[in-house]
Amino acid sequence: MLLTPHAVADCLADAPLPWLGGLRASEFLRDYWQKKPLLVRNAFPDLAHLLEPKELLELAETEDVESRVIVEDGAEPWEMREGPFHPTVWRKLSQRKWTALVQAVDHYLPPLADLLDHFAFVPEWRIDDVMVSYAVPGGSVGAHFDQYDVFLLQGPGQRRWQLGEQCNDDTPRLEHAQLRLIADMPVTFDETLGPGDLLYVPPGLGHFGVAQTECLTYSVGFRAPSLGHILEQVVDAVLLERGTEQLYSDAGRALPMHPSELGLSDVATLATTLQSWLQQPLLFPTALAPFLSEAKYDDYEPEGEPCTLADLRAALSDGIDLLRDPASRWLWEPQTQTFWRNGAVVTVPDAVKPYLPQLLTGRRQLAAYLAQLPEAVLNWLAEDISAGYWLPVEGAPSAGDAVGTGSR
Ligand code: SIN
Ligand code: CO
Repeated sequence: MLLTPHAVADCLADAPLPWLGGLRASEFLRDYWQKKPLLVRNAFPDLAHLLEPKELLELAETEDVESRVIVEDGAEPWEMREGPFHPTVWRKLSQRKWTALVQAVDHYLPPLADLLDHFAFVPEWRIDDVMVSYAVPGGSVGAHFDQYDVFLLQGPGQRRWQLGEQCNDDTPRLEHAQLRLIADMPVTFDETLGPGDLLYVPPGLGHFGVAQTECLTYSVGFRAPSLGHILEQVVDAVLLERGTEQLYSDAGRALPMHPSELGLSDVATLATTLQSWLQQPLLFPTALAPFLSEAKYDDYEPEGEPCTLADLRAALSDGIDLLRDPASRWLWEPQTQTFWRNGAVVTVPDAVKPYLPQLLTGRRQLAAYLAQLPEAVLNWLAEDISAGYWLPVEGAPSAGDAVGTGSR
């Protein structure tokens, strides 16, 4: 296990978090989240050694892994190519300033799923993935802004980050089909990040990171549903239940002021009726959970290996932990004890339901905790492991693992 063993508990208990420079999650959410940047030196010291550039580039060469290369002085300015890449491409780029970006590296590298536990002060449905970039000296993706929050974590090497101002659709941009490149970014912050340093960048804030040496940068990225899509989900759910047959009725109506007037009282009656359709207590959770629990890749199907109860018990007694499949997304609605995963309701036996919220706390469950669960729960877990929703992984080293010692 990488990093802090009790990261989720510390976030939820609102303890001072070393990786936020000693801020409590509530303080970070109040003062920084979606508002202003935060720099923390030495937030995640372990990231200096987690991954070698060569391993990241191998991922970019792999089919079904989402990757891009951005070449500053390529066929056009900030040329963007999509992976997978042929292994010879890196040598061909050697005279250029380039960056390779690989999405969802947390799906392939269990320690990065552990890393995500440090961000448990925001619910999982808001978390997108961990993208990792590799850049040669001078490499960057240009001064740009993103729509989403990002924590930029420096791995090996040094990267200089400049921040600009808050941007929006009116901000003058360079022409580029995919990147929101800023034409001229005024610099409001200029710091070089070294291994383990963290920089939080809120949505819309201009940023420009230039590799000073060969380097890897980890981006913990978030997602936010569009309100229009949310409305569509809710309307679809209402229509599914009520259909389109029910008609407006106006028994006892008042005399109109004018025969061709759209009367305010008629509009108010219609609006009140429709609002009452939207005000059923469980409408929003049941309409939204399938949407909010969608996996990052919507065609995603996990692949498991057959696992019996005996196999699971043997693995646990060997100290093997279980990692929740990092590419699957769960949601839990406490009132009705309903669980969703990757867009669909999960049928969970009643005997398992009381244990499932704990199993979903954090991405990794330790062998010692799992070993003492009732047989019904272990049986269910063995089936779910066979289906690929939990991955047996090497157990955690003892407490005393490297823990962030960050300072702001
Ligand atoms: C990078 O890692 O090169 C870019 C990350 C970002 O700007 O969001
Ligand atoms: Co960005």
